[in-house]
Amino acid sequence: MSKPEMEEGQDRKPEQTQSMSQEIGLLDGSIRSFVKRSGRITEAQRRAIKLLGPKYIIPFSEELLILEELFPQNRPIILEIGFGSGQATWRIAQERPEFNYLGIEVYASGVGRLIMDLELHAIENVRILQQDAIAVLRHMIAPRSLGGIHVFYPDPWPKKRHHKRRLMQYPIVFLMAQKLMPGGYLYCVTDIEEYASFAKASLDACSLLENQYEDFAPFQPWRPETRFENLAKEAGNQHFELFYRKN
Ligand SMILES: C[S@@+](CC[C@H](N)C(=O)[O-])C[C@H]1O[C@@H](n2cnc3c(N)ncnc32)[C@H](O)[C@@H]1O
Repeated sequence: MSKPEMEEGQDRKPEQTQSMSQEIGLLDGSIRSFVKRSGRITEAQRRAIKLLGPKYIIPFSEELLILEELFPQNRPIILEIGFGSGQATWRIAQERPEFNYLGIEVYASGVGRLIMDLELHAIENVRILQQDAIAVLRHMIAPRSLGGIHVFYPDPWPKKRHHKRRLMQYPIVFLMAQKLMPGGYLYCVTDIEEYASFAKASLDACSLLENQYEDFAPFQPWRPETRFENLAKEAGNQHFELFYRKN
């Protein structure tokens, strides 16, 4: 870990967290929380990236971002990890313009689609990084700099041997918590009950964070539904919300 990440002390970890080598794997990129695939991208999405990418996409680098320079107005920044098609991303940015938004997604199709929506709706408070969010958090985001983090419907990796790929495991939750400013929030939603309990154990074990509710959180009325949420609802699944703040 780099020095800034070490500034806030480590906690005792929940029992379900993995062996040290697995933790390091997700942090150093030798294990990924997503499947590498080229994916189908439409011609319109490809064109949007080519023509409008420079306006919205921030290139990855191993240097800290100067967050205030990314947006026309200086506002607290909300980071979204794995925005998928971005259908909730642009709506939240439109409905809550008091924040700026940094969306991270690895798949080009989602990046292209979000760019098209940002342009269509003239939304100025969203920027995009097409990169592994863990690398972005480690290298580009300064400690105590974010107003919030959204993780909506993270890949659940249900098989036990794949739990090491889960985003909401303790070391990654701890990394996220370090990047929040005091009072900043971490908001995670999933439709998989077992993953919700796993994520809750990681969040509860992190002394930097405090649950804002007794147990699972109620639906936050300002949050539009995501694409995966629509699919989960069609399948008749429940959803589980976790809402914590940095103390
Ligand atoms: C199950 S989908 C949910 C997408 C969207 N949030 C929704 O609710 O419709 C999870 C998304 O997270 C992205 N993802 C997973 N790990 C990631 C990482 N480390 N960095 C960036 N994106 C990631 C995947 O590419 C995928 O698009």
